[in-house]
Amino acid sequence: MVAAVLIIALGLAVLAGPVAAGDAAAGRKIFEERCARCHGANGTGNGPDLAKLHPTSSPVNWTNPVVMRQWSDQEIVDIITKGGKAVGSSPVMPRFGGKLSDAQIHDLLAFIRTLAK
Ligand code: HEC
Repeated sequence: MVAAVLIIALGLAVLAGPVAAGDAAAGRKIFEERCARCHGANGTGNGPDLAKLHPTSSPVNWTNPVVMRQWSDQEIVDIITKGGKAVGSSPVMPRFGGKLSDAQIHDLLAFIRTLAK
């Protein structure tokens, strides 16, 4: 009996496991739908809506490796999940926690990491 419970518990732990590495192709699709209007079609930080909403705030150029090296994966996940305001950045950056799943946010991270070479 105890063994059976243990086996079930282990099985669940494996299923719940850590979030798998993101899928960059899936991330690109989400980016095009939800992020490009501010972050720009190529992730360079110059989307059309940003100029309208907040002309003085400028997201970083995701294709610039020097800048992107200063961002840890955790920091990127955090600002996408919690929004700019919660991490002391621009309130114009929306929070996507609750709108996107953790897996989708990791897909976005994987996509963003393909841009800086
Ligand atoms: C309404 C405009 C807007 C949308 C939509 C938006 N962002 Fe942002 N985002 C911003 C702004 C503005 C900043 C910069 C904050 C600052 O440094 O002043 C930012 C910052 C970031 C940063 C931190 C690095 C950087 O570029 O400054 C990441 C990562 C990020 N956004 C990811 C995303 C992702 C992923 C999406 C789509 C799921 C998204 N954003 C959608 C406006 C937006």
